[in-house]
Amino acid sequence: MPQAVGAPLPLREIPVRPSRMIHFFDPSNEKMVGKLDRLIPTVDVLLGNLEDAVAEDRKLDARHGFIRVAQEHEFREGQLWTRVNSLDSPWLLDDLVEIVQSVGGKVDVVMVPKVEGPWDIHYVDRLLAQLEAKAGVRRPILVHAILETAQGVSNVEAIATSSPRMQGLSLGPADLAASRRMKTTRVGGGHPGYLVRNDPDSSDPNASRVTAQQDLWHYTLARMVDACSANGILPYYGPFGDIRDTVACEDQFRNAFLLGCVGAWSLHPVQIDIAKKVFSPSVDEVKWAMRVVRAMKGAGAVMIDGKMQDQATLKQCQVVVELARMLAQQDSELRDAYGLDAAEQTQTAKETQGGLP
Ligand code: GLV
Ligand code: MG
Repeated sequence: MPQAVGAPLPLREIPVRPSRMIHFFDPSNEKMVGKLDRLIPTVDVLLGNLEDAVAEDRKLDARHGFIRVAQEHEFREGQLWTRVNSLDSPWLLDDLVEIVQSVGGKVDVVMVPKVEGPWDIHYVDRLLAQLEAKAGVRRPILVHAILETAQGVSNVEAIATSSPRMQGLSLGPADLAASRRMKTTRVGGGHPGYLVRNDPDSSDPNASRVTAQQDLWHYTLARMVDACSANGILPYYGPFGDIRDTVACEDQFRNAFLLGCVGAWSLHPVQIDIAKKVFSPSVDEVKWAMRVVRAMKGAGAVMIDGKMQDQATLKQCQVVVELARMLAQQDSELRDAYGLDAAEQTQTAKETQGGLP
């Protein structure tokens, strides 16, 4: 049943499309908007940001700038998202009303910040249905929630299941740190003070002791990945604020990828390439996974290069192959690198029978 008379039917399954990077731009910044023609073909998701990082006196320019961008550009295989203002702001209502009315048919996903619980999604959900019906939008606009308050993290499972519009969740480490009263002043990444130190050497108690930084975000990210995967929606790492520290950005993104995330935000063009590299499985990994899938055809267990393979490792390999296949459909460079020709793609698709999300 549609949620409003004339609104599109809710989806039964969230479409899984490449979204290795959600690239943020400020639609009130004309210089940035001027570069979009060249940028759009390089990103999986382009997101017009209306919330934090846009000054209060630029909020309306950002909203109207986003509408113009949606009207003036084609996104082909890419997606267009917007991050609207939060529910406790005076801008959210008009953000949704004006955007759905003017370009609702072109927006794939609305990212909602500072979501506290399922009630926030219910509000956006009903409102979107009314606006879709009024504007004659034919496919449902999906919703993505940022996990960036302590209450939101406590309610993450309920948020993930709050609506068939739920496309995914992103970690918002900056707001979350503030909400939890963590003592960091950075946007994502590690902290030199959050560490574990080796025990003292009993024969030399004053010798210096090795320390290792720990991941401040591991608990939240893992919880978010479980909430998403258990409910067929997609988890993303959020922003990494130190644009110049490309090495640590890559590490943070890779941790998220290995843990189950499908993408991260890019706040600067330099992070687009990092995300593309990290969130596309490596050629070696894909070739290995394809080898396992082939070798396991009909077998209970096999040894490959001294490593035991069984149904569980097969399933892991299917996840990698299926992701590679999906990315290769859109990215000819990857298709060549993975060695997936058209026949191979169809074959692996049949073999894997859907390893995602
Ligand atoms: C993102 O919005 C964050 O607060 O980290
Ligand atoms: Mg935030």
